[in-house]
Amino acid sequence: EAEELIKKVESSKELDDIRVQLLGKKGKITDIMKGMKSLSNDERPVIGKLVNEIKSDITKLLEVRLKELSEKEKLERIENEFIDITLPSRKIGKGGYHPVTETQNLLKRIFTEMGFDIADGPEVEDTYYNFDALNIPETHSSRDLQDTFYIADDVVLRTHTSPVQIRYMKEHKPPFRMIATGRVYRSDYDVSHTPMFHQIEGLMIGENISFANLKAILTEFVKKVFGDTNVRFRPHFFPFTEPSAEMDVECVICKGKGCRLCKHTGWLEIMGCGMVDPEVLKEGGYDPKEVSGFAFGMGIERIAMLRHGIDDLRAFYDNDMRFLKQFKK
Ligand code: PHE
Repeated sequence: EAEELIKKVESSKELDDIRVQLLGKKGKITDIMKGMKSLSNDERPVIGKLVNEIKSDITKLLEVRLKELSEKEKLERIENEFIDITLPSRKIGKGGYHPVTETQNLLKRIFTEMGFDIADGPEVEDTYYNFDALNIPETHSSRDLQDTFYIADDVVLRTHTSPVQIRYMKEHKPPFRMIATGRVYRSDYDVSHTPMFHQIEGLMIGENISFANLKAILTEFVKKVFGDTNVRFRPHFFPFTEPSAEMDVECVICKGKGCRLCKHTGWLEIMGCGMVDPEVLKEGGYDPKEVSGFAFGMGIERIAMLRHGIDDLRAFYDNDMRFLKQFKK
């Protein structure tokens, strides 16, 4: 009966139950041993010997079966734990540059290739650097609370990157050429204005730097961004440059013929520029009789829109993945 039971068992756990059933304290063999005292003196040694033999037979059978089952269970475990290391791994999604960052990097590369140093300044700026030092009078409209985010009476979120001009001049001796990029803030919101946007500022100062140098550098810059495109300079006014100009490029859509993007003028304004005002040179610690220079500033979003044909500035900041994914390289 024991042999039959042990043969049929299919797991080491069940086998142990059977061991208890047969040899345990309340097991069958123990039962038989307990019944021994009711046997006669003649019978007892005979039955006793028989019981011991059966007990040792059962123990052997259990041992052999346990070995078999353990081996079988080990193989099953190995089979289940098998890892196929030749399977291809899961793809990890790769990010891409935001179109504004990508354009900013392009502009930085173009100017550094032309020998411009990269400078930096704070986004929370003193009114002195943002306005006063740049010759912007107290009454100038850009100081108006509607355009400028004030942090305190004399601290603002910078409204342009031009304050970096002053910070750089105070720490460097001419001749030099530098650019500064970063966030600027104005209280404005519609299809072409967001309260935060990016600018790139440029400043080149040395002996005999002229408007011809300004035109040469900026015309070359436009060629590198937009290819062989016509440009023009229109007279303009900025408190910190004299003379001042705005630079236009021929419309990238209609090639000068007139369309909605360029409001049928054939031209798109891309930056402000001019010769650094003598008052600003003095504020930077220079003598306007010894050195001269030019400066320019442009919106990076504007350039990114023209490069990629985007017609709503706000798309840059909606964070709609369908929009952003198009720029992944
Ligand atoms: N700071 C000006 C602006 O934000 C741009 C500019 C910079 C113009 C440098 C002239 C020289 O509009």
